[in-house]
Amino acid sequence: MKTSLTELLGIQYPIIQGAMAWTSEHTLAAAVANAGATGVIATGGRDTEWVRQEIRQCKSLTDKPFGVNLMLMASNLDDILAVIVEEKPAFVTLGAGNPVPFIEPLHAAGIKVIPVVPNVKLAKRVAVAGADAIIIEGQEAGGHIGTQTTMALLENVVPEVDIPVIIAGGIVDGRGLAAGLTMGAAGVQMGSRFILAEECKMHQNCKEAIINATDTDSTVTGLTFNHGVRGLKSEFTARYLEAEYSCAPKSELTAMAIGTNKKAAVEGDTVNGVVQVGQGLNRLTQVEPAKTIVESVVAEAKEAIKKAQQFI
Ligand SMILES: Cc1cc2nc3c(=O)[nH]c(=O)nc-3n(C[C@H](O)[C@H](O)[C@H](O)COP(=O)(O)O)c2cc1C
Repeated sequence: MKTSLTELLGIQYPIIQGAMAWTSEHTLAAAVANAGATGVIATGGRDTEWVRQEIRQCKSLTDKPFGVNLMLMASNLDDILAVIVEEKPAFVTLGAGNPVPFIEPLHAAGIKVIPVVPNVKLAKRVAVAGADAIIIEGQEAGGHIGTQTTMALLENVVPEVDIPVIIAGGIVDGRGLAAGLTMGAAGVQMGSRFILAEECKMHQNCKEAIINATDTDSTVTGLTFNHGVRGLKSEFTARYLEAEYSCAPKSELTAMAIGTNKKAAVEGDTVNGVVQVGQGLNRLTQVEPAKTIVESVVAEAKEAIKKAQQFI
């Protein structure tokens, strides 16, 4: 396939495996890259040495381009940035803050910069500041979310910027990729679908919970203070939402939520942790090699685009 994203990154298919804290490590990113798409190593909650080793291990498994995610809320942000600049992955995705100050130093190191943006205003700002592409992430996504849907972002953002736009949030198969491309996107970023890759290290309990879940089984915590996180409903999310909507103080809610992603993803505690995942749940039915996921998404997208021609 050929889009402005495949051209920008020198990849075969316009699919990015999105960064997933405590979940997307070098094994997954390299497998997706070797399959002709591209992967991203998540750095949230990690220390600098872990990040350095992950980038090096990824390079040892693939000679294809891959990315690293910079969490702009991270307390060790400057140190992680320094490691990325030294280790030089092909690109960096970054969000949850103002990406603009990071564009110049990353470009100076020869690294492409792809901010994740939740609205038109920030999309235009980062485009003017020199971002190479943007990811627009709708509230259908797993993990931290904004307030707009993927469809509304696609409609509103694409006509406003002249850099490649990648869509994320609720895209789990090739029909989603075809829809994005035909609406003017340059590609898709998928997180949830890649959780079910064999090479993804998320705990088996979480993978099973995702396979057993259906469309209405996710919920969003933290919406009342603009810190929405989407994950599977659990005993924890019920407790949390009760506290949130009983107007518990923000400090109490923040303390309750700390570490719940790791508790699920690493320890496999799907009761007291949060299995972060998006809304495309019915289509997440089996664990497969990353290569199979990439190939089936591409085949479905080609089929959907061919079929769409009958409407003209
Ligand atoms: C478990 C999980 C953890 C995530 N962690 C991050 C992260 O650390 N940084 C980030 O930019 N996005 C993060 N995301 C968002 C993904 O990169 C991606 O944009 C999102 O999963 C797309 O929506 P989908 O899950 O419906 O495919 C996370 C998503 C999930 C499911």
